[in-house]
Amino acid sequence: MTFRLTRVLPPDDTAAALCADVLYGLTRTPKTLPPKWLYDAHGSELFEQITQLPTYPVGRAELGLLLLHARDIAEQTGACSLIELGSGSSQKTRLLLDALPGLHTYVPVDVSESALRQAGQTLLIERPALSVHALIADFTGALTLPQTPGPRLVAFLGSTIGNLLPAERATFLTSVRALLAPGDTLLLGTDLVKDESVLVAAYDDALTAKFNKNVLAVINRELGADFDPDAFAHVALWDAGHEWIEMRLRSLTEQTVKIPALGLAVDFADGEDLRTEISAKFRKQGLRRELAAAGLTVEHVWTSPGQGYGLALAAPSRGGTRTEHATSGSTGLQATGLPS
Ligand code: AVJ
Repeated sequence: MTFRLTRVLPPDDTAAALCADVLYGLTRTPKTLPPKWLYDAHGSELFEQITQLPTYPVGRAELGLLLLHARDIAEQTGACSLIELGSGSSQKTRLLLDALPGLHTYVPVDVSESALRQAGQTLLIERPALSVHALIADFTGALTLPQTPGPRLVAFLGSTIGNLLPAERATFLTSVRALLAPGDTLLLGTDLVKDESVLVAAYDDALTAKFNKNVLAVINRELGADFDPDAFAHVALWDAGHEWIEMRLRSLTEQTVKIPALGLAVDFADGEDLRTEISAKFRKQGLRRELAAAGLTVEHVWTSPGQGYGLALAAPSRGGTRTEHATSGSTGLQATGLPS
C-alpha cells in the first residue's frame, strides 16, 4: 500500500478562519458560531464519548446500516475509488472498504492531520494493496481532489450534513455533484425526523453540555479570550419549523467577554443565547428534493429499523446541465489538479 498526505489547507488558514468566524458570529444578533470549532482534540474526544451514550443513536444506527448493507452498497456502486469527506478515524469506513474488493484508492478528507495519519497507519496493515491518499482539507470550502480511477464513491457520513444551514447544504451538494462523473455516486448519512422528546434527549445531557462549552475553551486558548464556561448554560431545543436541533450557550448573567486577539469586547445580556450548532433532521421526501436540486437522483435509501436514520445513495441526474467533472470556482470542490 502507498500512503500519501497532501495538505490542501495552508497551516495558518485555520487560525484566520477562526478569527473571521468569531468576529462575524459574536458581533451580530443573534450570536452564532459554526459547529466545526467544537472539534479540537478534546472536543473530538468528547464527541466520541457522546456516540457511546444510549440517548445518542446516530453513530450506532449508521453502523448498523453499514453492517447490514455494505455489500449492497458495494454492488450498486462498483467503486474503485472511495472519497470520504470528514473521515475522522475512518472506523465505520472500514465496513465499506472491506465490502469493496475492487477498491484501488481511498481518499480520506479531514481537517485533522493526526486523525488522517492514524487512520492511514491502521490501513497500511489491514489493506496492504490499497492506495491511500489523505487530504488535510475543509470540505465545506474549496477542495481539490486527486484524479483517481472510477467509478468513484463519495461518502459523507454521520449526518454531518445536518450541521450545515439549508443554503450551505445546497452549495455543498452542488459542489459534490460537480465532482461526480456518470457512474459515480454519493453515499449520504442522514439522521431522520423523529419524536421530539427522543431528538432532544440526544442533545440534552451533561456530556453534550461539556462538548458544547468546549467551544469557549477553544476561543480562550486560540484567541486569548476570557470566557467563563460556568457563566453559560447548555441549551438543546427542537426547532419544529426548521426541523433542526439547536445547541446554544445561554449567558447566566450580564457579562462582557474580552477577546484580545480580535481587540474585541463582547457584551452578553442576562439570558442571551449564543447558537453553537444546528443539527437538521431529514425526511426522505425532503432529502430527495434537496439532492434533486443539486442535480443528484436518489437511487436507494436504506433506513434503520425504527426509521430513525437513513443512508441515501445518489447518482448524477440524467439530462442535467452540468458537465462531466465540471469545476466550480473557489467556493466549491474541484476534481482536478492533484495527481493520484
Ligand atoms: C457530528 C453531526 C454527528 O449533529 O448530531 C453530537 C454532532 N452535536 N451532539 C450531530 C453532535 C451534539 C453531530 N454530528
